[in-house]
Amino acid sequence: MKPYCFLNGAFVPLSEAAISVYDIGILRGYGIYEAFCTYGGKPFMLNDHLARFRRSAEGLSLNIPIGDNEIEDAVLELIRRNGYQEAILRFILTGGQALGGIEYDETKPTFYMLAEEFVHLPESVFTNGGSLITAEHQRQLPQWKTIDYIEAVKLQKKRKEAGAIEILYHAGGKVLEGATSNVFIVKDGVLITPSNNVLHGITRNATIISAAPHFKTEERDITLSELLAADEVFITSSFKEVVPIVKVDEKPIGSGAVGPVAKEVLRLFREFAYTHGAQRSDIVVPTPAHQ
Ligand code: PDD
Repeated sequence: MKPYCFLNGAFVPLSEAAISVYDIGILRGYGIYEAFCTYGGKPFMLNDHLARFRRSAEGLSLNIPIGDNEIEDAVLELIRRNGYQEAILRFILTGGQALGGIEYDETKPTFYMLAEEFVHLPESVFTNGGSLITAEHQRQLPQWKTIDYIEAVKLQKKRKEAGAIEILYHAGGKVLEGATSNVFIVKDGVLITPSNNVLHGITRNATIISAAPHFKTEERDITLSELLAADEVFITSSFKEVVPIVKVDEKPIGSGAVGPVAKEVLRLFREFAYTHGAQRSDIVVPTPAHQ
C-alpha cells in the first residue's frame, strides 16, 4: 500500500509530496507541530490535541487553513488510506513560502499531516524501567509545541550512548520536562509534576485525570535535588505512555527498581486510554494562567 500524507488540502502519496525549499519552516524554523496516536484505532484525545494546536498557532500568528471537523475527517481518512491499525499522527504548520527571506503571508500557510504505524515501546521498558540523562536547557516558548527540537535532536547521540530513554531538561536548579515528554516524581504517594515553563502534555493531563481517584497530584516547581531524592520518577508522552524511570545520570531513583505507584499509574492510564480516552473528547484540558 502506497503511504499517503495530507498536504495543503489533498491526500498525496508520500513519494510525491513536496513543499518549497523557501518554506519559512525550513528557512527560519518558523512553525508548529502536534503529535498523537490512536487507541483501538481512535485518535486519542483529539479535541485536546486540536485545542493545543490552535493555541500554538495563535501564539505564532499562524493560520490553520481548515476547521477541526475537516481535520478530524482527514485524520480518519489518512489512517484508513495507509491501512494502519494503530497510528501515530503528526501535524506540521508553517508560515508557508518565505517573503524577503524572513516574512510570510498569513493567508498562505503550509499545513500537512503525516501518519505512521504506531509501534509501542517494548513491554520490557515498562517492567524494567528506563533511565534519563539530564541537560541544562529551557525551551523557547515552552507553552507551545513548535517545530524547534534542535536541542532534543542534538542530544540524541549522547542519549543513545548512555542507553537512556529520554533527556531531562532542567534550568536554574528546577526540573522542567523531557525532550519530548513530561516528568513526574512520586513522594509519599503524591504525584508531583512541574507546571511552569513546560509543554502541558496531553498524556500528562490524561495521567492526572486517570490517577485522580487514587492519587493526589500537585502541579508545582520541582528542584533537581528533589527529583533525585524522590521515591519514584516517571515520564509521560503520546508515544511512550507512562515509563517508570529507575536511574537519572547513573544515580538510582528510590530502590533503583520500578516502583508500585508508577506501575499503577501506567495501568490506570492504559485502562483510561482503551476504555474512555478515545471517546473523551469532552475533556477540556484546563489552560493554565501562564499559557
Ligand atoms: N512530544 N514536552 C515536549 C517538549 C514534547 O515534545 C512532548 C510531546 C511532550 C508530551 O506531550 P504529549 O503528552 O501531548 O505527547 C512534552 C511528541 C510526542 C513528539 O515529540 O513527537
